[in-house]
Amino acid sequence: MGLINMQTINTIQALRAVIKEAKLAGKTIGFVPTMGNLHSGHIRLVEEARKQCDVIVTSIFVNPTQFGANEDFGSYPRTLEADSALLADAHCNIVFTPTALEMYANGVSQSTVVSVAGLSEQLCGEHRAGHFAGVATVVSKLFNIVQPDKAFFGEKDFQQLAVIRRFTTELAFPITIVGVPTERAEDGLALSSRNGYLSTEERAIAPAIYKALCQLRDAILNGQREYTMLCDATVLHLQKLGFDPDYVAIQQGQNLQPASATDTDLVILVAAKLGKTRLIDNIAFQIPSAL
Ligand code: PAF
Repeated sequence: MGLINMQTINTIQALRAVIKEAKLAGKTIGFVPTMGNLHSGHIRLVEEARKQCDVIVTSIFVNPTQFGANEDFGSYPRTLEADSALLADAHCNIVFTPTALEMYANGVSQSTVVSVAGLSEQLCGEHRAGHFAGVATVVSKLFNIVQPDKAFFGEKDFQQLAVIRRFTTELAFPITIVGVPTERAEDGLALSSRNGYLSTEERAIAPAIYKALCQLRDAILNGQREYTMLCDATVLHLQKLGFDPDYVAIQQGQNLQPASATDTDLVILVAAKLGKTRLIDNIAFQIPSAL
């Protein structure tokens, strides 16, 4: 459809018109929802979308309803100019940058909320009340606005991805959800917009989270099954390094319920504060049936 230059669109109506035109021309739409302050993890999502779809839409919207009262909504970095340059380089076609009023015309306390029971209460949900309902509601809305064929999300937000996969299936959105592996710095730290909050000293300590995840995975692959003890020991280890862990958990990969010694599809998840920065990471793996 001749989208050579990237377009920035900030109203639902204008976006719908462009999407309609693209669909009439037989193009497939790939969607990358973000909150901006883009890093190479986001760009990897755009690149994956580029490989699989004709027209790529990236949204940049710092969604107020997924932040708790004491969280970083106000200070979350807004870097539209730099983000636009990165997206243009990655051959994104459309950047959708709605205002809060455009997304929540009736105010943020909407009557209608998408909430995914069973996947939202534990882990980050326990420490961030209402967070996943905020995410599920805004992503549903964005899905209805963009109407993509495929939507791309980082596996770093493992619980978020599980929530999105579940409501996409249960609400019958005709959208394929694509999970993309976590991008890491050379020292293993998962890339995140929040890494920018870390001081130099904290940045040097932060990779210990991924190291701890790898050690836990290796211990399990070597036959250890005392999951509570393993997690408690990791919490203590992280505390000694200066973290304030919210949780270290070994869960079943499909439903995010606590894993038992006989489960083989596992994910280990960590959330820990380092100073004022909350970091999350995870590692998913299978125990081969022979072990
Ligand atoms: O992962 C994020 O950046 C956000 O949670 C998302 C999916 C864009 C919804 O606001």
